[in-house]
Amino acid sequence: MKNIHRASGRYLSVCAGILILALFGGLGTIQQGDRTFLNSEVFAGTDCPQQHPPERIILNLTQQPWSSQAVTWRTMSEVSNPQAQIARVTESSDWIETAQTIQADKELVVIHDSKTAYHYSAIFASLSPNTLYAYRVGDGKCWSEWNQFKTAGKAPAPFKFVYFGDPQEEVLSMCSRIFRTAYQTAPDAAFWHFVGDLVDNGDRDAEWAGLFDALGWIPRTTPMIMLPGNHEYPDKRIVHGGDFKIFPLWRPHFTLPENGPEGLKETVYFIDYQGARLVMLNGNEQIEKQAAWLDGVLSENPQRWTIAAIHQPVYSAAERRKAKADFPLKHLFVPVFDKYSVDLVLQGHDHVYSRSARLKNNTRVQDTEKGTVYVISVCGPKFYESDNTRQDIMDKTGTGRQLFQVIRVDENRLQYESYDARGEIYDSFVLEKERTDGANNGDCGNNRGAEKR
Ligand SMILES: [Fe+2]
Repeated sequence: MKNIHRASGRYLSVCAGILILALFGGLGTIQQGDRTFLNSEVFAGTDCPQQHPPERIILNLTQQPWSSQAVTWRTMSEVSNPQAQIARVTESSDWIETAQTIQADKELVVIHDSKTAYHYSAIFASLSPNTLYAYRVGDGKCWSEWNQFKTAGKAPAPFKFVYFGDPQEEVLSMCSRIFRTAYQTAPDAAFWHFVGDLVDNGDRDAEWAGLFDALGWIPRTTPMIMLPGNHEYPDKRIVHGGDFKIFPLWRPHFTLPENGPEGLKETVYFIDYQGARLVMLNGNEQIEKQAAWLDGVLSENPQRWTIAAIHQPVYSAAERRKAKADFPLKHLFVPVFDKYSVDLVLQGHDHVYSRSARLKNNTRVQDTEKGTVYVISVCGPKFYESDNTRQDIMDKTGTGRQLFQVIRVDENRLQYESYDARGEIYDSFVLEKERTDGANNGDCGNNRGAEKR
């Protein structure tokens, strides 16, 4: 979804009964699509009609996360005046009186059986860096609870984020524990990063319901960034030409940056976060166009660290894919990654784990040379057999584990840790940058430092 709305108006009333009813009103069930599930999202406020509670509330990072924040949600019956409120949180209890209201965009989406869902999006703009805000979404009468988020800093500063490979299957049943362990392991993560195949069938609303149920309230407080995998598209072996398009449920669920190439908005984009440039690529279509765009984005990159992400691996690590892997992603993207010394490439799709050595021109580099680490991970319970024959470029390969990764980025050091569902470390490495050009040379040392592991 899209469009920036400017803040206007003021929130003037507080309903104490909301909290009481939220605490004691109990949980209901709601029939949605072809499944009945515990609806913890029904908001039991006195002024909140049960037929359209805000649900699937999710924060997404914007291109400038130090000054804006996107939120998206939906209802199953239409509301006429969708809006969001935001206030800076202070130690004083009257922070709520400073809340500002912004109008939201609305998008109607036919999900199945001619049922329509109503998706809404808003972008909170003109925010202050490093600042805690509370927000809620609704229609002026029926509101979500107040949730909190903190904006990014404008200048480079240490941060951590969590990266997940494919959830895809049994998402509610088997990924919930991964998500909860990840939150317990890194509750202070600045954001979560998914690299596609969030669900198995991206055109089935019930599967998106399972994903949001599995994530619980975490997306309401921890911003998410994601890119599409092949399961957010129709099967390429069956659907061709102009019919091969991302499923219509992708864009309404999220509000992602629109700074990518034309025709790939909200699937290809970049974000600058406290000294790192994060670049999302879409491995499903128009790869050549993306490679040219990527070259432009990295040629003007002032950030010290560069992390790219793509669903389909550049260097496959699944036994079943080794005969046909790597093409054309490797031939189009690797020269650009090499040219700008991208530090890390995060991938999914193979349902295995792998971590390459630092590579350039498809081969290992020396400790003193610049190179790129390529990681594949998976957080869901679907696994493939791993290809363990690539010791020439891989430092670790494995399969059969649901994993998540905590990545901490400092000025000169990137610390990567992969965890299993028990919270035990499965893999780790460190990248370091050493300035070889003296002190600040004015360009933030874009990949100019020597790196070592
Ligand atoms: Fe995939």
